[in-house]
Order: sequence, then C-alpha cells, then structure tokens
Amino acid sequence: MAKMIVAGNWKMNASKETVAALLKGLKQGALAVKNAQLVVFPPFPYLAQTQIELADTRIAIGVQNICAADNGAYTGEVSLAMAKEFGVSYVLVGHSERRALYAEGDAQVALKFMATQAMQITPILCVGETLEQREQGLTISVVTGQIQAVIDAAGGASFANAVVAYEPVWAIGTGLTASPAQAQEVHQAIRAHLERVAPEQAAGLKILYGGSVTASSAQELFAQADIDGGLVGGASLQADSFLAIGQAAK
Ligand code: PGA
Repeated sequence: MAKMIVAGNWKMNASKETVAALLKGLKQGALAVKNAQLVVFPPFPYLAQTQIELADTRIAIGVQNICAADNGAYTGEVSLAMAKEFGVSYVLVGHSERRALYAEGDAQVALKFMATQAMQITPILCVGETLEQREQGLTISVVTGQIQAVIDAAGGASFANAVVAYEPVWAIGTGLTASPAQAQEVHQAIRAHLERVAPEQAAGLKILYGGSVTASSAQELFAQADIDGGLVGGASLQADSFLAIGQAAK
C-alpha cells in the first residue's frame, strides 16, 4: 500500500540556527521512519538551506503558500518557478490561516491549486470548519463545499495529483484534537464526495489530518480507515516529536 504522508508546517517559526538543528535531527532520524513520506514546509528564506541539507535524503520539501501568477509585478510574492528551483514538490493551498488572516477565498485557493499542478507540483488542499460551524452541524457541508469549489474550477480528475488536508480550525494550535472518530467521519465524507464526481481518483486520494497532532495522538488517528497521514504544525518544530509522528504511520 502507498505510504502515508507526514508533513511539517513550520509556519512563521524559524531562524538559521533552529533550522540547522531541526534538519540535522531529521536527517539523523529519518531512516527509522519506514511508512511515511516526510515533507517539511519551511518559510521561504530557509528554502535554500533546507534544499542543501536534505539533498541526500528522502525528505521532501514544500512551501506554505504560493502566488498563482507566473512572474511580473506582484510585490512580495513568490512564484512556483522560484519554488521549483529549490526542489519544492508540495504546496499548501488554502490553509485556514491564509483563509482567515489574508482573506483567501475559494476562488483564489482554486487558482493556486491549478497553478501548482500546472508546474507538476502537488497541491495539498487544506479544508476545515470553525467551531461555530461544527456546533451548527455544518461541518460536512463546509468541508465538501471547499472541496467542490476546487472541483468546479479544476475538475474532479485533478485530484489524481493532489492531497487533501482536513484541519478543523478549532483544533489548529489549540491543543484540541478531533477525536479519531470525528476525524474519520469527515475524511470518509470527503472521499465519498469525490467518489461521486471522480470515482477513479477517490480511492487513491491521500487525506491528511491536521490540528494539534502529537506523537501520542498520531497512532490512533493514523489507524482510521480514511486517514492517510498528518499535517503537523507545532509538533513539527522539534525533530524528535516530528519523527515520532512519522513512526506512527502504518
Ligand atoms: P498545529 O498546526 O499542529 O500546530 O495545530 C497544524 C496546521 O495548522 O497545519
């Protein structure tokens, strides 16, 4: 069976010194991670350092955000071609912090998703409900709506080269984790939704869980039928805890 993916989203946390220590630890421990593709998502200024350090490893590199345009007058943005020069093979699109803090809507998320695929890079489409939406019973409709917005723009077949990350907003950085059953329910609904529009892509789609994943919660989460790995924030900043999550992959 295909490997799980364990992805570490460092967010805006790094210095040359912490990156050096973290990458050193990951290089030393990565061989013990047998059943997961590890991916790290450094902030842009540390891409070169990360590429050099990870050159002789199987750890993949991703970026946390990208500009959908090719090049030109987009002050402050980073293009896919630039990311590609640094060995980037995954891009996070639609992370809830981008949606909430930078007003990225479904249309922009879909553009980034398509631009990423056009460069032969794999988008990781992040979806998830707020606590308020969950309490109103809207979880499945919010999450499948976020997926459908990308299907409308890119087509269901595009999910052959994509990963989905289900990250309940209320579980991100809060220490609250969706229970394995809560997560499985949503993962199953995502797969079932894709099954209706793109039956050939549904079974093989990797759906990661994110939201306060730790080494102790990972094992039970990863044992769920429709959970294919994790998108890890806080616990990806230390090599030991990130590697332990990688080792929880089956
Ligand atoms: P967290 O972040 O593990 O710190 O909750 C997850 C994410 O936002 O990707």
